[in-house]
Amino acid sequence: MRSYLIDGGKPLKGTIEINGAKNSALGLFAGAIMSDELSTIENIPNVSDINYLLDSITMIGGTVKRKDKHTVQISGKNINPEEIIDYDCVKKMRASYYLLGALIGKYKKARVALPGGCEIGSRPLDQHLKGFSLLGVKTNLKNGIIYAEAKELKGANIYLDVPSVGATINIMLAAIFAKGTTCITNVAKEPHVVDIANMLCAMGAKIKGAGTDTIEITGVQRLHKVNYTVIPDQIEAGTFMIGALVTNGDITIKNVIPKHLEIIKYKLEELGATVIFDNDTVRVIGTNKKQSIRLVTAPYPGFPTDLQPQMAIACGLAKGTSIIRETIFEKRYAYVDELSRMSGKMKVSSDSLIIEGIPQYQNAIVSSPDLRAGAALVLAGLNAEGFTIVENIQYIERGYEVFDEKLRKLGANIKIIEGQTSEDIRRQIQKERFKIIK
Ligand code: EPZ
Repeated sequence: MRSYLIDGGKPLKGTIEINGAKNSALGLFAGAIMSDELSTIENIPNVSDINYLLDSITMIGGTVKRKDKHTVQISGKNINPEEIIDYDCVKKMRASYYLLGALIGKYKKARVALPGGCEIGSRPLDQHLKGFSLLGVKTNLKNGIIYAEAKELKGANIYLDVPSVGATINIMLAAIFAKGTTCITNVAKEPHVVDIANMLCAMGAKIKGAGTDTIEITGVQRLHKVNYTVIPDQIEAGTFMIGALVTNGDITIKNVIPKHLEIIKYKLEELGATVIFDNDTVRVIGTNKKQSIRLVTAPYPGFPTDLQPQMAIACGLAKGTSIIRETIFEKRYAYVDELSRMSGKMKVSSDSLIIEGIPQYQNAIVSSPDLRAGAALVLAGLNAEGFTIVENIQYIERGYEVFDEKLRKLGANIKIIEGQTSEDIRRQIQKERFKIIK
């Protein structure tokens, strides 16, 4: 098992640069296979989710050339759409389902395993499938594999019952070459939806309205290659912004797009932080006088669900009672039980979390239940005095590149421990007072 060993209680101070957006890069890769030419995508984060999807593209015959950790070249030239994106791929990387939209769009056929639920919720695909069917695609589910086929793809009017990020991207991909015009209403407006639409347009697609409630796609014949740079990761930036408040620190984050961080600024200021935007940087100064708040997660430009666990950690240190309502995923409070081991005082009541503030978390051994909850537990460990062990960090490594290295750059005492049980580590700490190695 891989864990983080944290010697906490110190403010995070200094400057870091964040990576490209994982959830954008995944959609960009799917878009790139819709051209038979070799596209270059830069500023991709070197995290396991990215590597899983690139492996899936290779598996079905796509060309994937890693130029360096943050640059990849992709072409869909030799893809065989009869190949199945199997359950093993989709279990490891849900967003393999973006290949469904891309393969349908390009080949009018696809074979992709239906992803199951995950740690944060059931994750249905009904909106994706509704959009495909309105475009003329016949889909059927056999032994857990979605078989999709279309004689012809024709533009359609599609209303999403939920502003689903995945469905917006998948239907956009499937409609690129469809005859006529497709109009998708009630779409997701997340930054990475716009990023993917921008790249597709740079490849020759005709897409209007990304970032608004309605996206219009006019079918074209083919897409050509592109050199494209992924936008900065809003969620990674937000995680470090919240870390500045949780540790009463002072962090400057470079290479951000302030517009994407506005709602996070507002809510951190309500909690008592000072947040200063300057061009492509944001500076967050924490305080030990945090005020309780009310927080509701919502589709962009609302507060992102992917920062809900991290914000709960900050609210847990605010004077009084805070209330968080999670409106996107029904199981996104798995970290609450772990946090109670660090004396967090939180109680789930229906879709809300009632949080009583405490002065400081207590160090303990905790386990990451999922990607963003794991990052949140690290923030709690950085607040607590003494040694905290966060287990199962493979979840965190899915979405945060060298998270420990970036934190050490900000003065944190954190390192990766592997091959030892947490109890072994605890006994070592007691005996030898572990010295965190820089
Ligand atoms: C994307 O997931 C992100 N993943 C998630 O980030 C993020 O939390 C989520 O969007 C919301 O912003 C990637 O981009 C790879 P949705 P996605 O479809 O597309 C319901 C992370 O931590 N829904 O917008 O799967 C669904 O149940 C991950 O990086 C349907 O009902 O999310 C949920 O309640 C976690 N039917 C809501 O919509 C559908 O067909 C939003 O889901 C599709 C979705």
